[in-house]
Amino acid sequence: RTAFAQAPILRPRSTGFDPIDGAPVNYYTVTQMAAVAAILPRLTTPILGYNGIFPGPTISIERGTRAVLRVRNQLPARHPIDGHVLSTSTHLHGSASLPQFDGYASEVVNQGFRKDYHYPNGQQARTLWFHDHAVHKTAMNVYAGLAAQYHVHDPFERQVLPQGQFDVALTISDAMFASNGFLAYDDRDHSGLWGDVMLVNGRAWPVMQVQRRVYRFRILDACVSRSLRLALSTGDAMTVVATDGGLVPVAQPVSSFRLASGERYEVLIDFRKFSPGQRIVLRNLSNENNRDYDHTDKVMAFDVVDAAVNTGDPTWNTIPTTLQRSEIMSLTPAQSTKTRRFRLKHHDVTNEFSISEETWADVVASGFRRVIANPALNAVETWEFENSSGGWHHPMHLHLVDFQILSRNGKVPFAHEKGPKDTVYVGEEETVRLLVKFGPHRGKYMLHCHNLPHEDFDMMAQFSVGLVDG
Ligand code: C2O
Ligand code: CU
Repeated sequence: RTAFAQAPILRPRSTGFDPIDGAPVNYYTVTQMAAVAAILPRLTTPILGYNGIFPGPTISIERGTRAVLRVRNQLPARHPIDGHVLSTSTHLHGSASLPQFDGYASEVVNQGFRKDYHYPNGQQARTLWFHDHAVHKTAMNVYAGLAAQYHVHDPFERQVLPQGQFDVALTISDAMFASNGFLAYDDRDHSGLWGDVMLVNGRAWPVMQVQRRVYRFRILDACVSRSLRLALSTGDAMTVVATDGGLVPVAQPVSSFRLASGERYEVLIDFRKFSPGQRIVLRNLSNENNRDYDHTDKVMAFDVVDAAVNTGDPTWNTIPTTLQRSEIMSLTPAQSTKTRRFRLKHHDVTNEFSISEETWADVVASGFRRVIANPALNAVETWEFENSSGGWHHPMHLHLVDFQILSRNGKVPFAHEKGPKDTVYVGEEETVRLLVKFGPHRGKYMLHCHNLPHEDFDMMAQFSVGLVDG
């Protein structure tokens, strides 16, 4: 059993103030480089990582403090698995970034070069993550290790949710290994990569020692393809307190919940009711459209230590009920000015995935002009995704925006997804309706399936916001 660990917090290289408006700015640097990781016993695994680690270092910053993240591409010339040329594009998933800093797939940084990405951090507290987004290579590059969490804090969240050592990042991924310890990759039909080893923060099935108190877990599905359905082995509920875009209006106790690649859920687990010495397993119940193996039904375990109930931090040692209603959660369908429908499809002959018959190849062929929708700046619209592709679920991610899930198959959304979202699980034969507000920036932004091989096999399009030529 491996011990649980989290990625280190990245310290800023320097801090300062914006010369124009005086806002505080943190300057960070990460270097993308090749390294080896000790994941399996007695073997080493070559990876690509931000600062040579997987997951990369976590950025933790206050709302209102801007970040300039310098990403240096010091990767080797070729990818260790398939030998492709390692040009990268870094996307901060969950951030309303300006288009030029959004990690546009086709705007890559070549080996030996660097780019400074500016992040406004003006949104409410949330769990974001940054990962590679290089066109057609996202799956391979994220799989090799180019992924990290990024936390924005704000005063309300600091007051109501566990902080510090009780605020824990869980980046969940899956992998398969060759007998020499190297990462293997097997995606014959572009449907996905299904590893037989579950990793949390880059460690296989780790065990975390917990005190008898309330913990907050920032759960990120960073799997290339695998979706998860998480539950505690004791059957006890977890309480969902935040979704992709931050706090939910009302905390939601759930006995299990599903999530797909790219989605984040923050849950509270109350360990006070368990006894010292007890082991609680975070299980992964079976979910549609995955390839399961003997041990993919569990993710990690918690070992309860100490008899004493931890009574420190009394404000954080409770399960809140009412939290915060973000702007997007305050909007109503009556405010929507337009409804757009998109059909998600798989084409058996070409093995391509498309969004209303459009693919990234169409965007490239148009000289990056073609858009699938062109909402006005600050427009509120209803977007509907219908998945009749059969055999696949598609986590659909819209860059730039937060949205509210209005319905799933005409019914109210699941309890765990009643909060601000940027990635929505569209299951097999499901239709989801979203309420989206397009802003705060003008420009062209991507939308795509976050099953990364689907994205790489062109299940990606772009929309424009506030542009006349859209
Ligand atoms: Cu997490 Cu466009 O991606
Ligand atoms: Cu998909």
